[in-house]
Amino acid sequence: MPLSIRPLHPVFAAEVTGVDCTRPLDREQVAAIEVGMDEYAVLVFRGQRLTDAEQIAFTRHFGELESYGTPGHIRRREDQRLGPGIADFSNLDKDGRIMSAEDRVWFFKLGDRLWHSDSSFRPIPAKYSLLSARVIPSWGADTEFADMRAAYDALDPRTKAEIEDLVCEHSLIYSREAIGFTDLTPEEVAAFEPVRQPLVRTHPVTGRKSLFLASHAGAIVGWTIPEARMFLRDLSEHATQREFVYSHSWRPYDLVMWDNRTTMHRARRFDRNEARDMRRTTLAGEAATIA
Ligand SMILES: [Fe+2]
Repeated sequence: MPLSIRPLHPVFAAEVTGVDCTRPLDREQVAAIEVGMDEYAVLVFRGQRLTDAEQIAFTRHFGELESYGTPGHIRRREDQRLGPGIADFSNLDKDGRIMSAEDRVWFFKLGDRLWHSDSSFRPIPAKYSLLSARVIPSWGADTEFADMRAAYDALDPRTKAEIEDLVCEHSLIYSREAIGFTDLTPEEVAAFEPVRQPLVRTHPVTGRKSLFLASHAGAIVGWTIPEARMFLRDLSEHATQREFVYSHSWRPYDLVMWDNRTTMHRARRFDRNEARDMRRTTLAGEAATIA
């Protein structure tokens, strides 16, 4: 069956059929998926029974894996359930048991329920993320995506002009503070030092502009904090109106790939007493967004 792409939403997101993500892709398949990513920003591949190694191999068709010496999470290497190259987005500890509600790792994960773009708190933010559903809970746990190109397009001309050259500061400290989790170690505070990102990004292939927002953004360079926080909140509210949002209801072995440069996403609530095993591979961005 040839590869085909079918829209799932009026402005973005599509389902790809006719590709087996467990097997090496040929050049035409890679090119077709890249064209699909440029157009739809979120691609859904159903029924992909990937091993971790296969997920990593599939991801590497599209670039280099993101890798950092400093963690974007607080799980120590010896406490990790999965091997290198794949990030654990489950609610399971290293022995496969459901994490305690008081576990700091769980507090960190709760912050992923705020709208964000992966690794916007890093100097070179992520290009694509790929999330594979291995075990899903019986209720809730959707992932919502918002199209930041459509959100940008819908701004009034005055706001577009005002934000054109604005620079924001992003840090995990800001997004965790937003849910009341401020109990960070000095090492974490040092590792989460804010980085600068433009508020408006231009896609390198399509030339479309998009809002680069995230709950990690906590300051605008040259603005007071209250003014910046209020404006960022207004922009996020605008950008996550229902018309710009695709909600993905997971089935086991769904693989969803999204472009962090042009979308935000958030996890939705589920029963924390049920296992949710999600595994993410992340493609590195090509360069810092600011000289
Ligand atoms: Fe995320």
